[in-house]
Amino acid sequence: MTEKDFIPKRYSESMEHGSVSWEAPSNIALVKYWGKKEHQIPANPSVSFTLKNCRTITRLDFSKKENQSDFDFEIYFEGNKKEDFKPKIKTFFERIVQYVPFLKEYKFEIHSENTFPHSSGIASSASGMSALALCVMSLEKKLNPEMREGFFRKKASFLARLGSGSACRSIEGDLVVWGKHQETRGSSDLFGIKYPDEVHENFKNYQDTILLVDKGTKEVSSSVGHNLMHNHPFAEARFAQAHENLAKLKPVFAEGDLEKFIEIVENEALTLHSMMMSSRPYFILMKPNTLEIINKIWSFRKRTELPVCFTLDAGANVHVLYPEKDKVKVLEFIKNELVAYCENGHYICDSVGDGALKLK
Ligand code: PMV
Repeated sequence: MTEKDFIPKRYSESMEHGSVSWEAPSNIALVKYWGKKEHQIPANPSVSFTLKNCRTITRLDFSKKENQSDFDFEIYFEGNKKEDFKPKIKTFFERIVQYVPFLKEYKFEIHSENTFPHSSGIASSASGMSALALCVMSLEKKLNPEMREGFFRKKASFLARLGSGSACRSIEGDLVVWGKHQETRGSSDLFGIKYPDEVHENFKNYQDTILLVDKGTKEVSSSVGHNLMHNHPFAEARFAQAHENLAKLKPVFAEGDLEKFIEIVENEALTLHSMMMSSRPYFILMKPNTLEIINKIWSFRKRTELPVCFTLDAGANVHVLYPEKDKVKVLEFIKNELVAYCENGHYICDSVGDGALKLK
């Protein structure tokens, strides 16, 4: 498929006004997306677990308007009008309007809320952009009721990608690949796909406990970080490594090999942060407590031989990953040894989920 396949030909129906709602989850990458080309095309393929509990709920109210020269929308977050969210949404609309040309024909009200605490330092752009993209697609589906479910989801992921790259991995569950990868059937730079191969029982309902080390806003945004991969001295080697790590995960997913899984996932997390530390300008998003937690996880793993590991996103928080069967022991360890390193002792219990849901 190419971008052109997402440009609609004509709509058979018209719609004066209405409302659509979606709930979309966050996701956590195992092989990281870091570095992109123009139009949010990733420099390398990535794979993520879709989460279950960290979600954004968005309602899009729409009514037809006279003047179609520009976008007309208001955004409310948790009940409050948010002027400061508007530029991001406007940019998103500008990027997608050629694929959903009806955007200028309607006046919109966007009402959004998150299931995870406000200012938890958790990026809500993945769940937020995917929920909004799905709402826009539901409106398109009203204009073109013939649209197939498979196309609907692909295009929702395609639009979400244009809002925030990793958001395209938040439509489907439970493992999603985004970015062209030789060894992954159907993979594309344009949208995320459900991981097409065998996944062992060990990874079903995998747990992700998110330790909130630092709830503040990040000092360096991920868009700045992605850009610093241009002319990065290690960029090419890093992109090649992501392809290799994704290929290595295939037998790991099929056989349930937790030891190799841990090695690849932790290597990816540390490589992501080492790219930040070796860019120009360089920066560090980990905090002292991030390292304390990593060391505690390593000694706990050595002591107990339980398959617990960590991953990081572009921030100081730590995602602790482990199989469901070890939940009781690992949660006890987290409470006894790791919570002390969290801001105000806060953490979020999440696990792998099934993807976005349309709300009635
Ligand atoms: O989607 P963005 O532009 O916020 O980038 C996300 C980057 C990482 O979270 C660090 C990695 C990933 O693949 O999600």
